[in-house]
Amino acid sequence: MVALTQPNQVISNTGRLTIETVEIAPETTAIRCLDWDRERFDVEFGLRNGTTYNSFLIQGEKVALVDTSHVKFEQLYLEIITGLIDPTKIDYLIISHTEPDHSGLVKNILQLAPDVTVVGAKIAIQFLENMIHQPFKSKLVKSGEFLDLGNGHQLEFISAPNLHWPDTILTYDHKTGTLYTCDVFGMHYCDDHTYDENFDIIADDFQYYYDCLMAPNARSVLAALKRIEKLEIKTVATGHGPLLKDYISEWLGRYQNWSSEQAKTETLVALFYVEDYGYSEYLVRAIAHGIVKTGVAVELVALNNTEPQEVRELVDQAAGLVIGMPPQSSDVPQAALKTILAAAHNKQAIGLLESGGGEDEPVFPLRNKFQELGLIEAFSPILVKEIPTKVIEQLCDEAGTDMGQWLNRDRTIKQIKSIDNELEKSLGRISTGLYIITAKKGEVQSAMLASWVTQASLNPLGVAIAVAKDRAIESLMHVGDRFVLNILEEGRYQGLMKHFLKRFPPGADRFAGIKTYPAATNESPILAEALAYLECQITSRMDCGDHWVIYSTVQTGRVAKVNGLTAVHHRKIGNHY
Ligand code: FEO
Repeated sequence: MVALTQPNQVISNTGRLTIETVEIAPETTAIRCLDWDRERFDVEFGLRNGTTYNSFLIQGEKVALVDTSHVKFEQLYLEIITGLIDPTKIDYLIISHTEPDHSGLVKNILQLAPDVTVVGAKIAIQFLENMIHQPFKSKLVKSGEFLDLGNGHQLEFISAPNLHWPDTILTYDHKTGTLYTCDVFGMHYCDDHTYDENFDIIADDFQYYYDCLMAPNARSVLAALKRIEKLEIKTVATGHGPLLKDYISEWLGRYQNWSSEQAKTETLVALFYVEDYGYSEYLVRAIAHGIVKTGVAVELVALNNTEPQEVRELVDQAAGLVIGMPPQSSDVPQAALKTILAAAHNKQAIGLLESGGGEDEPVFPLRNKFQELGLIEAFSPILVKEIPTKVIEQLCDEAGTDMGQWLNRDRTIKQIKSIDNELEKSLGRISTGLYIITAKKGEVQSAMLASWVTQASLNPLGVAIAVAKDRAIESLMHVGDRFVLNILEEGRYQGLMKHFLKRFPPGADRFAGIKTYPAATNESPILAEALAYLECQITSRMDCGDHWVIYSTVQTGRVAKVNGLTAVHHRKIGNHY
């Protein structure tokens, strides 16, 4: 239920929402959507001071809107936009990235301005097509490309992949010196100040946001900072929190220092793709996503857009290499491949994929070359001949996770051994039940054996479970997703436990040979041999080191055998489940 209480303010069931517009530069208006009471930001982290979603209107001879807002601001935002301008006069809608807090009202803008051209990175436009399911005009932009709005507003685009989504672009207006950064340099902070004059008050939130969102991609942060160092920035128009104006060099300097420190110590995988060739970039990004889940750093490089020296240095630093195979007919990537082969060494892991290749499958001769050099293959070559499906994306994600886990193996063993003997025995006395979590989203399904499961609330009926961050099923366990909690039976669980404890190769069907039937609410597989099951929907996730603790409400459940007892998991030591 939403009630309009006064102009530009709404009290919703999740708290107070207000909106303000401010002229931040000539012909440039910030539309700041203030979400005063938001306590949690989806999966990532708890909020201490609410948040804002900032959108910007630039009115040169042509008009551009930079990002929209969260869907919860639908009423307020559309009132404000239509008050500022006749929406049919908006020529461009620039999408800095496609998460719903910035793109939540793209569909509404398209309804008001059907002729608008949506501007974004190639991958952002692909994401949007999947999100809004309606045709729209689009313009793909890359680093170094310009869009002239007239009246001096020359917009330059800078790609900033992985900050913190793969599709992120920054936009710089050469007339006003405004750099539109969306998530980058932002903070979840809500107050009436448009700018950053209260440095000491907001500094902690700036760092907290960096630690949660940007630190996992420290090298990508450094690459983006390098791309913007030539710009004369007067205002950093962020997508969250106050705009940066008074202390720009201090804020950017902090990103530089934190990321440089991080980059020194991290295990790194260098991933190479070929821009504009088939689905090479899309699939390599899916592998990168799986690697990042294991805490290993990634750096993505377009083979056809990078200096050989940079490729050589990156290969030299990397513990693992991933290559999205380029076409053999193209000279530039072939030369880059020679550079990689010359710099690779036998302490590295390698993973290859070929997308859209012909019958000759050049991935295999390349594989032989890396094997001759002594590199360890982290996953078998992935061949994708058709348009990739979500199943293929999941396969790539799982292949990436396998590589990350392999690279972490020494560290994992060391961590396990470092726990004090008495402490690990004491922890081991915590007993739990045994469960199989199953989830299905579209064509993709997965499962995991779980033991950290407990009922967490009575009203609403809710359960909490812990899921390791590098589990394949993690991708299906975000806020809003549904799953089935299958409860195993004492004396009858060994077969299922053995099956789901197996190490599955990337993309393998976890349910082959297992009898299942679909859940009523979401089609997640219910195991026919389970003692009971619960159908659940995730409402929040808490970051707990190497695990997510996931809280879900329970929709429905059934017991197969009324007198059956739940399988109990007694452990001897507490350093793993
Ligand atoms: Fe603020 Fe990544 O969305």
